[in-house]
Amino acid sequence: MRVTLSVIKADVGGWVGHSHSHPEILELARKALEDAKDKKKILDYYVTACGDDLELIMTHKKGDANKEIHGIAWDIFLEGTARAKQLKLYGAGQDILKTAFSGNLKGMGPGVAEMTFEERLSEPVIIFMADKTEPGAWSIPLYKMFADPFSNPGLVIDPDMHQGFKFTVHDIVEKKEVIFSCPEEMYDMLALIGTVGRYEIKEVRRKVGNDIAAVTSTDRLNLIAGRYVGKDDPVMIVRAQKGLPDVGEVLEPFATPYFVAGWNRGSHNGPFMPVSEKDAHMSRFDGPPRVMAMGFQLAEGMLGLPADMFDDPGFDKARMECNQMADFIRRNGPFQPHRLEPSEMEYTTLSEILKKLKTRFKKA
Ligand code: F6R
Ligand code: MG
Ligand code: MG
Repeated sequence: MRVTLSVIKADVGGWVGHSHSHPEILELARKALEDAKDKKKILDYYVTACGDDLELIMTHKKGDANKEIHGIAWDIFLEGTARAKQLKLYGAGQDILKTAFSGNLKGMGPGVAEMTFEERLSEPVIIFMADKTEPGAWSIPLYKMFADPFSNPGLVIDPDMHQGFKFTVHDIVEKKEVIFSCPEEMYDMLALIGTVGRYEIKEVRRKVGNDIAAVTSTDRLNLIAGRYVGKDDPVMIVRAQKGLPDVGEVLEPFATPYFVAGWNRGSHNGPFMPVSEKDAHMSRFDGPPRVMAMGFQLAEGMLGLPADMFDDPGFDKARMECNQMADFIRRNGPFQPHRLEPSEMEYTTLSEILKKLKTRFKKA
């Protein structure tokens, strides 16, 4: 059967600053999606949170960018915002940038990753959800999963993966996209996606049959709103096994932590820490940026029980390394490369300071 998997998220208010999501808001979302399931609008759902982000995972048969499905999520975010305001949660309605719903959540604030596919004989999918970072955080792991044989040996030894994959890369500033065929165009692609704040991998497809393999959310809240409204804490869906990276190959890139942009005030580089669902909340310096991974084994469009993929001692060392990386980079305090470059900073006083100093600057 053809099924659509939609992951739609928004920060409708943080519980204790920007650190957690309030359990009552999650409960409200569960009730609304249970109701949508009863009324046969969706097949199944799972609600969770990563830090201050409410994550709605839904399966249905209505395809990508469906008005009714996006509307269900939008109504939950509005209801959640209303309750968040009563509870005086922090930044209530932070990601709800527009007031009127036009039929599609694109450009409205919430993040969306969706894919529609023919459910295979067995369909393992992993949903990654992150907080205190941006969609560019997915570029390193997607590259490693689908193009790096040192991370994914299946690219070399699995006859069904050996031909490589196609990557769609978005230029989120100019709102353009380009498709790279890898491994042939690997170096060209790396030249672009190395600029993480601008070029982001939107999706990955198999060359044979054009089957969807991975999809990310790539919205830029500050570009939508024209002002600082928080980072676009991203989500990503990856299908696994049988001609795609196996579950272990999908998770492997997170065992060797790397730096991502975001963290405190959305203005700092920090380590991307893989954590279990229960540890997906922010503390130290409003972070460090975190990623959780929930695995599902779809059955006729039903999500079934989730498996918490990073709830595993196999990732303890990565977490320890992240803490060490956090210590190292925190030493730079307000200096780069801990602090982001000016154009990437979500908070800045620079233009005001330069204005104030205008008359004092002398030719040197
Ligand atoms: C980063 C984030 C937090 C806030 C910080 C300041 O994405 O959500 O680090 O930027 O806590 O928040 P305000 O300005 O709301 O006090
Ligand atoms: Mg927040
Ligand atoms: Mg957040």
